[in-house]
Amino acid sequence: MRFISRKAEVHECLDEARAENKSVGLVPTMGYLHGGHISLIERSIEENDITMATIFVNPLQFSEGEDLSSYPRDLQSDREQCEAVGVDLLFVPSLEEMYSKPVHTSVHVDNLTTSMEGRSRPTHFSGVATVVTKLFNITGPCNTYFGEKDWQQLQVVSTLARDLSFRINVVGCPTIRHSDGLALSSRNAYLTAEERLSASVLSRSLQKASELVQSGEILASVIRTLIVDEIATEPRVVLDYVEVVEGNSLGSITEIGPGARILLAAKFGKARLIDNVDPYVGIS
Ligand code: PAJ
Repeated sequence: MRFISRKAEVHECLDEARAENKSVGLVPTMGYLHGGHISLIERSIEENDITMATIFVNPLQFSEGEDLSSYPRDLQSDREQCEAVGVDLLFVPSLEEMYSKPVHTSVHVDNLTTSMEGRSRPTHFSGVATVVTKLFNITGPCNTYFGEKDWQQLQVVSTLARDLSFRINVVGCPTIRHSDGLALSSRNAYLTAEERLSASVLSRSLQKASELVQSGEILASVIRTLIVDEIATEPRVVLDYVEVVEGNSLGSITEIGPGARILLAAKFGKARLIDNVDPYVGIS
């Protein structure tokens, strides 16, 4: 595995690979890698000749008062995991390498970014879209792998790649979960032992909602109420939102049909966790 901290080195390695007709896979992350990240890397390795993983905790996507300074980091472990799974290039740029100060340009994706995570975190998606655009330009034509765990982010990134005509193929990958259903997340590290136990209420409520849909319920309001009530059984949780939407446009729907998605966010102490499900598939 080659460890790279400079954009110029990425260009050199990947231009050379593409000149030899090799396909390139890109897996952007903020590090503190877990099985969810590794599943994206494995998929990229399976489908491409060269896989580059990136680690960069992007300050632009954190709002004032969010967890930028305490965001968990462990570069040694990340490096070892990338090496073990067979990453070819690990790109870990410094803040200066990514952003020359001051930054005058940002990328904004309309519509998809105003609801849910965008309502709770108004500058978040511009930060994501801007850093992802930079990573796409640094990498060049490639397949890139994003988790369905961050469903709204996946729609934003797919839309931005299409709207701005990047020669980038965005591949969505299924959510990896613990055995009790909790989605793997770097932010799970913030949970106390008690909060960790109660956090499974998120996936449990989405699974119950999916079962109700599969047994014929189509009213989004009924499904929302079921989830809100289920989550209310856990006193340690503060629910942020539950939304039933069309999965690609993210527009609210009143009746559930194929392509629907249910998304939620909740706070457990210091940790703000998100999850989502295709109600016709459920939590697997
Ligand atoms: P991060 O939270 O580190 O996630 C990196 C990638 O891993 C994202 O595509 C995310 O959806 C995926 N992922 C996280 N948990 C997962 C799980 N349990 N199962 C499957 N995939 C999972 O998302 C970001 O970083 C940043 O916003 C980034 C895109 C890197 C831009 O800064």
